[in-house]
Amino acid sequence: MFSLSDTRRCVWVNGPVIVGAGPSGLAVAAGLKEQGVPFVILERADCIASLWQKRTYDRLTLHLPKQFCQLPKFPFPDHYPEYPNKKQVIEYLESYAKHFDINPQFNETVESAKYDEACKLWSVETVSPSGCKVEYICQWLVVATGENAERVVPEIEGLENFGGEVIHACDYKSGENFRGKSVVVVGCGNSGMEVCLDLCNHDAKPSMVVRSSVHLLPREVFGKSTFELAMFMLKWLPLWLVDNILLVLAWMILGNTEKYGLKRPSVGPLELKNTLGKTPVLDIGALEKIKSREIKVVLGIKKFSCGMVEFVNGEKLEIDTVVMATGYRSNVPSWLQESEFFSENGFPKTPFPNGWKGKEGLYAVGFTRRGLSGASADAMKIAQDIGKVWNEDLNKKNRKSLHIEDAFDILIGGPRIF
Ligand SMILES: Cc1cc2nc3c(=O)[nH]c(=O)nc-3n(C[C@H](O)[C@H](O)[C@H](O)COP(=O)(O)OP(=O)(O)OC[C@H]3O[C@@H](n4cnc5c(N)ncnc54)[C@H](O)[C@@H]3O)c2cc1C
Ligand SMILES: NC(=O)c1ccc[n+]([C@@H]2O[C@H](COP(=O)([O-])OP(=O)(O)OC[C@H]3O[C@@H](n4cnc5c(N)ncnc54)[C@H](OP(=O)(O)O)[C@@H]3O)[C@@H](O)[C@H]2O)c1
Repeated sequence: MFSLSDTRRCVWVNGPVIVGAGPSGLAVAAGLKEQGVPFVILERADCIASLWQKRTYDRLTLHLPKQFCQLPKFPFPDHYPEYPNKKQVIEYLESYAKHFDINPQFNETVESAKYDEACKLWSVETVSPSGCKVEYICQWLVVATGENAERVVPEIEGLENFGGEVIHACDYKSGENFRGKSVVVVGCGNSGMEVCLDLCNHDAKPSMVVRSSVHLLPREVFGKSTFELAMFMLKWLPLWLVDNILLVLAWMILGNTEKYGLKRPSVGPLELKNTLGKTPVLDIGALEKIKSREIKVVLGIKKFSCGMVEFVNGEKLEIDTVVMATGYRSNVPSWLQESEFFSENGFPKTPFPNGWKGKEGLYAVGFTRRGLSGASADAMKIAQDIGKVWNEDLNKKNRKSLHIEDAFDILIGGPRIF
């Protein structure tokens, strides 16, 4: 006898399991659909693109022109602006899923995935919010859980005694609730800058913590996207030269940002991105507010105390709220039992463009530190790679399993299938 709570469904997936229904997972799924390969997408949230739908602020727009952010084989609508807003991006992703008839299994968090050498199959275990567990068994595993799966919240002395509201940027929606309040925004990446700008626009008083350095670039140079210009120059010029040109252009358009406390890193913006994955900040108005002192730039934090923050230079400030715009991390090491392809930081060890394929049917999509364009490039390679093997097998064996459902369930309480 076994109790109901011990019951675990076991599902054989005739095709790959994709973990994550963000843009990366959807792009792989679309490519597989086109080749007739069945698959299952497992998603912990109750919707597609949960990062965009649930963990971003309202004023978010793409920083890169839409042609650099669209997924394979389905462009953004012509009537969308060059830099679509959050609502438009979500609508686009919803229609992408609809167009390719992609239906993820929602509310299933992957807790573990491991490869069984003896059976030459992956075992992927999920749990639902009600505690229901399912084991999926498959030949291919596509990791699409994203570079931003979990928030990074640093431990800062005295934060527990602060007493006011402390949120992460992923829970910040709008400055509406912060009118008249003094807010410390920790971090000066794209999130930190934009949250500060939004706070200003809602008559709050933001102070932005810049503990090290940041490359601030204009979003556009002479009416052309800076990113597009950089990509164009990289076709003909070495990276160090493009970096220097970008810095001269940034100086001409933005002026000397160091004057305002935004020290530049010693290496150029593209080199920094390539080596450390640190994204340059594309300015969409925060610098003006910094120049006018509506956004106050402050140094690293020494400690918090009740209603107060103290910076490393000894300056103290009374504040109401702390927004941690301190970034995100991959969660792959917490569930994938594998250490050859993925490194401890949850990214593939081999850099772009070769970090998409591991061994034993393992793939990674969306870990290129190149946003949606990097994800699209990987997704197409993965779908083609799996599709090729699938269709070769199909021709060879005239797959028996084609005569049954794509996936079938076995209810097991004791014995596992392997
Ligand atoms: C505020 C913000 C703005 C951004 N703006 C841009 C931009 O303008 N342009 C750009 O190119 N990039 C941008 N990015 C980068 C962003 O990573 C990409 O836009 C895109 O969302 C990446 O897609 P993804 O599918 O790889 O990851 P995600 O969108 O993060 O999707 C991963 C999915 O996997 C799910 N998941 C995670 N762990 C598990 C698990 N264990 N089990 C089951 N499901 C799981 C998550 O719930 C999520 O739905 C932005 C990021 C942030 C944080
Ligand atoms: N519209 C858009 O396109 C858009 C908008 C927002 C975000 N994004 C993307 O989303 C990703 C995440 O961006 P993000 O800005 O959230 O994170 P991020 O780029 O990782 O920036 C994190 C910031 O937090 C700082 N920080 C971390 N720990 C700190 C501490 N203990 N004390 C002080 N500062 C600390 C970092 O400083 P150090 O540099 O010193 O470590 C850095 O300035 C990026 O790829 C970004 O481009 C895009």
